[in-house]
Amino acid sequence: MSEILLEGGAHRFHCERHDTVLGAGLRAGLGLPYECTVGACGTCKFELLEGTVESLWEDAPGLSARDRAKGRKLACQSRPTSDCRIKIRLDEACRPLDPPRKQPAVFVSSANITHDIREFRFRTASRAAFLPGQFALLHLDGVAGARAYSMANLANDEGEWHFQVRRVAQGVGTSVLFDTLEPGACVTLDGPYGMAYLRKEPVRDVVCVAGGSGLAPMLSIARGMADLDMLATHRLHFFYGARTPRDVCGEAQLRVLAGYGDRIVFHPAVSSVEEAAREAWIGYTGFVHHHVEETLGAGFTGYEFYMAGPPPMIHAMQEMLHVRHAVPASQVHFDRFF
Ligand SMILES: Cc1cc2nc3c(=O)[nH]c(=O)nc-3n(C[C@H](O)[C@H](O)[C@H](O)COP(=O)(O)OP(=O)(O)OC[C@H]3O[C@@H](n4cnc5c(N)ncnc54)[C@H](O)[C@@H]3O)c2cc1C
Ligand code: FES
Repeated sequence: MSEILLEGGAHRFHCERHDTVLGAGLRAGLGLPYECTVGACGTCKFELLEGTVESLWEDAPGLSARDRAKGRKLACQSRPTSDCRIKIRLDEACRPLDPPRKQPAVFVSSANITHDIREFRFRTASRAAFLPGQFALLHLDGVAGARAYSMANLANDEGEWHFQVRRVAQGVGTSVLFDTLEPGACVTLDGPYGMAYLRKEPVRDVVCVAGGSGLAPMLSIARGMADLDMLATHRLHFFYGARTPRDVCGEAQLRVLAGYGDRIVFHPAVSSVEEAAREAWIGYTGFVHHHVEETLGAGFTGYEFYMAGPPPMIHAMQEMLHVRHAVPASQVHFDRFF
């Protein structure tokens, strides 16, 4: 076990031998800055002032050549090998409401959602504690690094964690999930993480935008709204951006929620013009951020926005919301699926 001291001396925390600086800091209840937890975004950068750490992923894209030259490290990919003193700026928004826990999880079952998205269900011995929209890390045997997956369900006492995973061609982690994991197998689940969770206050109409594998956290948000009775007084516009008509999903899961078709409106979009024509698609054809802009029309600042999916989709949505419609950052919550 190592002790991590933050520059200035106001905070210190212990880090177990196999934990990362980020995981240990959040487990201690501190607001260490982060977004992806998997080495891709660079939000968790810190300076090592004293001590030694080992990097779990030397080539992690979250560090630029300049960062490396300056000796910066990623808290999500650094494991202390001695006591350390580090320089990092805490962010109150990242302080966990439910600090993440590492625990064994048993793979229970899986079922197809589309031709390439499958729901995987895991169970832990203790309560599944998380907020709608959050994610967890799965440590899979034989896979270097953890993989982040968002929960599609809601917190529960039974310890159920439901993930919806898109198969990635040549993907190391998804190959294990889709091809080798058998029911009864045990993995390590570490969570919850993430700031794109459902806000109870202030209550506004909600816009969810899911792209590709971003379905799970948006379904969790929709289910959370139903559970909290927010749909009795507010509307949910649920947009799903797919490449082809056969990739469209989400409606079946929304349909069972009270208010579907009235308070909950499903807006699918297909981006491939050729595939839309070939399959006689009668819905919206184009990018999902255009569909959002054309559907809402005006009054964008009256909504709370949640979105999850590929970084280019999130970028296009941010530009549309912040630059063209002056929506404050405090009303926009997202996870980029690196
Ligand atoms: C916050 C968040 C939430 C996500 N939620 C979902 C979801 O709900 N559903 C879904 O389908 N996908 C989700 N993803 C994407 C998912 O985590 C995986 O990137 C995806 O499943 C591909 O994994 P793979 O191992 O098959 O592909 P690979 O191409 O083998 O690996 C992809 C990712 O694994 C990590 N990685 C690769 N090599 C290493 C290494 N040596 N050491 C450490 N890490 C490494 C990197 O983050 C890389 O982007 C999410 C991603 C993030 C960041
Ligand atoms: S949180 Fe560490 S790189 Fe994204």
